[in-house]
Amino acid sequence: MAKMWTGRTDGKTEKLADDFNSSIRFDSRMYRQDITGSMAHASMLAEQGIISNEDAETLIVGLEQILQDIESGKLSIDMESEDIHMFVEQELTDRLGDVGKKLHTARSRNDQVALDIRMYLRDEIDQIGQLVKTLIGAIVDKAEMYQDAIMPGYTHLQRAQPITFGHHLMAYAMMLLRDLERLKDTRKRMNQSPIGCCALAGTTYDTDRLFEAKQLGFDGICMNSLDGVSDRDFCVELMSTISLLMMHLSRFSEELILWTSWEFKFVELSDAYTTGSSIMPQKKNPDMAELVRGKTGRVYGDLMALLTTLKGLPLAYNKDMQEDKEAVFDACDTAKMCLQVFSGMIETLTANRENMLKAAQKGFINATDLADYLVKKGMPFRNAYKIAGQLVAQCIRENTVLEELSLETYQSYSDLFEQDLYPEIDLRTCVEKRISEGGTSVASVKKQISYVKETLDL
Ligand code: ARG
Repeated sequence: MAKMWTGRTDGKTEKLADDFNSSIRFDSRMYRQDITGSMAHASMLAEQGIISNEDAETLIVGLEQILQDIESGKLSIDMESEDIHMFVEQELTDRLGDVGKKLHTARSRNDQVALDIRMYLRDEIDQIGQLVKTLIGAIVDKAEMYQDAIMPGYTHLQRAQPITFGHHLMAYAMMLLRDLERLKDTRKRMNQSPIGCCALAGTTYDTDRLFEAKQLGFDGICMNSLDGVSDRDFCVELMSTISLLMMHLSRFSEELILWTSWEFKFVELSDAYTTGSSIMPQKKNPDMAELVRGKTGRVYGDLMALLTTLKGLPLAYNKDMQEDKEAVFDACDTAKMCLQVFSGMIETLTANRENMLKAAQKGFINATDLADYLVKKGMPFRNAYKIAGQLVAQCIRENTVLEELSLETYQSYSDLFEQDLYPEIDLRTCVEKRISEGGTSVASVKKQISYVKETLDL
């Protein structure tokens, strides 16, 4: 097929060069955005008297027809085309003749591609946001179910203080809530229209960029034409937002992998979200969580790839920028897949209350409460801390736990100890007394749950 840009050169390129140059493999997915963008462009051209109303009508109907034919499968996208923009314009011209050739007035592929990506990614953000919301919903449901299930809370992966599983889960809900806000924020900055920046310098035609932008649902227009066609910040920003989201999913995955191990046995994943081993019959592997953790690295790679591509580019458009799409599409595709699997995995998991409680009982995780008991009786915290530490050491020597030591033993360390100590270091009391805002008590977790539910209208 003769190239539309045959002019200065004869357009006779090597097949190898064509294949190398082509982006249709990965930009054909933007056909809808490309076509709707062109329809708005045609109507703007007519509105401004740059083409006749009749021509605009013909162009719009022709574009509409192409869109329908692609969606119905009647027209397949020609993978020999250079890119989706060339394919649509060529198809239009094949169908309409000379009128089709008027469409590209007062625009360039440089602003066209920038427009298409922004429109495509806006929709991706909306989809990703919905999936994050669904996942938060699943987490909140489990948190409600396990709001009173005691488990050890960890620092340094050493048992630290008792918390509830519901409280632990809600920590992830908060992270994902921030991710949602970041997505919203990213969308806001992305939603400025570059169309009309043309190749780089604007145009001599009397265009109305705002009219076109409004038609396509943008909040405004890119204010500098060089920037409009060179800017891929919105791709980078989306990928960093997604990277953060993936980092959260990855940390969660890591915990699920730990919790489902025989060493912990806190959580059981549904068979539907685990796999077996081809050789070891006893295995039930948390592959979904591992893959989410693994794919996080891949998304970081996408982000780094584009940042690196952009860092040395002079203004304005350079062909290097064609590399934006594979990276950002991959990040979106990966995130969407991970989010869906993750929701299913969370919805179907069960926690083992007994094992979590058992683990909580073994690690002296009420030692802080023991010290606090003495403080409440008037001892300075540092002294109380020291005595609690010595009592823990004695327990370790005698292979017992704080709840089992006799009152005489306690009193040999301080005469402030009395019988009322025992209920104070009971794990449930330790949890229930942490009523500070954001703390682990059931009341506080309930508050967190209703905060998230209200924020998201769940
Ligand atoms: N396929 C190209 C891309 O994705 C479209 C823009 C081409 N512009 C150009 N001046 N060659 O970046």
